[in-house]
Amino acid sequence: MTVSEEKTFYIETFGCQMNVHDSEKVIGTLLCQGYRQVLTIEEAGLVLYNTCSIRDKAEQKVFHRLADYKKLERQGKKFAVLGCVAQQEGEKIFDRAPHVSLVCGSASYRNLPKLLVQIEAGNKRVTGLDDRQTDECFETEFTARNNPHRGYITIIEGCDKFCAYCVVPFTRGKERSRNSNSVLLEARRMAEAGYTEIQLLGQNVNSYHDPLGEKTFAELLGAVGDIPGIKRVRFTTSHPIDFGADIVAAIDSQATLCDHVHLPVQSGSTQVLDAMQRLYDRDQYLARIAWIKAARRDISITTDIIVGFPGETEADFEQTLSLLDVVEFDGVFSFKYSPRPNTPALEYADAVCEADMSRRLAALQEKQREIQRRRYQRHHGQRMEVMVEGKNQARGQWIGRTSQNKVLNFTAPSAIELLPGKYVSVLITGSFPNSLLGEMVV
Ligand code: 5AD
Ligand code: SF4
Repeated sequence: MTVSEEKTFYIETFGCQMNVHDSEKVIGTLLCQGYRQVLTIEEAGLVLYNTCSIRDKAEQKVFHRLADYKKLERQGKKFAVLGCVAQQEGEKIFDRAPHVSLVCGSASYRNLPKLLVQIEAGNKRVTGLDDRQTDECFETEFTARNNPHRGYITIIEGCDKFCAYCVVPFTRGKERSRNSNSVLLEARRMAEAGYTEIQLLGQNVNSYHDPLGEKTFAELLGAVGDIPGIKRVRFTTSHPIDFGADIVAAIDSQATLCDHVHLPVQSGSTQVLDAMQRLYDRDQYLARIAWIKAARRDISITTDIIVGFPGETEADFEQTLSLLDVVEFDGVFSFKYSPRPNTPALEYADAVCEADMSRRLAALQEKQREIQRRRYQRHHGQRMEVMVEGKNQARGQWIGRTSQNKVLNFTAPSAIELLPGKYVSVLITGSFPNSLLGEMVV
């Protein structure tokens, strides 16, 4: 094969962990099809963007990228748009960016080998779009994981919840769970390959229903945590309505399950939760928080919040602020509401103006910063195990992550050279609202 015939690709990923992991599977699929991955657009024959459409800003990013590199089509490069924007916009992408030759949503990735053959043959406007109906999961012969210690496993794809603001049920298809056997086989293979941390992924992981009828979500967590060699198991993201006390009991009884739960609340106001069609109210959410807080282990809790959902009054927003005080989250991802295509909230009256949204977001973040300052301070004097992630050479500090998913920067005796993936014990000596400081215990 001459150099010019060699098939090369460049991929850029936007959005959530699901997308990051999908890209690992797409890369694996492309490698199996004889492609070689390159790290710059200039070197690539095929340029892929795995896109996110959760908020408008995320969606616009891909169109900016496509505009920036439009002229490269003349050099014979092909462009593909994958992921949520692909599924949402479909063939309209070809009209907006005529240099794109493939548009493929995540529920059609299993067809990628066929679709690639079509674009290689010079076909334009090739699509892989699914109308929410697929029952299949995207399982590949080979997943090109980019971290040799910590890896993702998808256990459930799609979403059937239809929260009023959310585009995901339209972009990722209907909810479908993988067989527990297939999940455990993948986890065992990863453990044999040296992985020590596994993150189970799904839009609503805890809505998992084993098609074999063998394992509940909590039992699957336990079974992954039992695999020899596995030291840490995480899962994301959980929907409060499907969050059972059995998950807390599993974390309590098994040290390999990380002491962290990400439980998106979205709002502290029952009225807004109702309008969002979240299926739970403030008190039901707080009941789940009470289970987590009653655990023997100190389980960190993080959440997602949307401010400025249509109809959110100052009094509703105050309810969200008060929820922050009651729960004292260890971390909050907060967003301004962004109207999305197809979603019911698009039709809702009483939009909150941009100025109010910005003010509420800033107030929420300021309050949470102070809560986190206290939450992180309480670790002073404790010993924590971290998995080493790397080194900040400029500061001479190692970077690690605790089981609670907190970043911990620490010093170690200069004679010690730590490798990423190693586990060490660290004494906490200081903290900021988003990270801990410590010294390695030797
Ligand atoms: N506008 C703003 N934030 C959103 N999210 C989901 N949809 C929207 C939207 N339309 C947030 C939710 C979700 C997180 C992944 O993104 O908080 O939990
Ligand atoms: Fe992930 Fe949701 Fe963005 Fe799709 S829309 S990439 S599922 S965050």
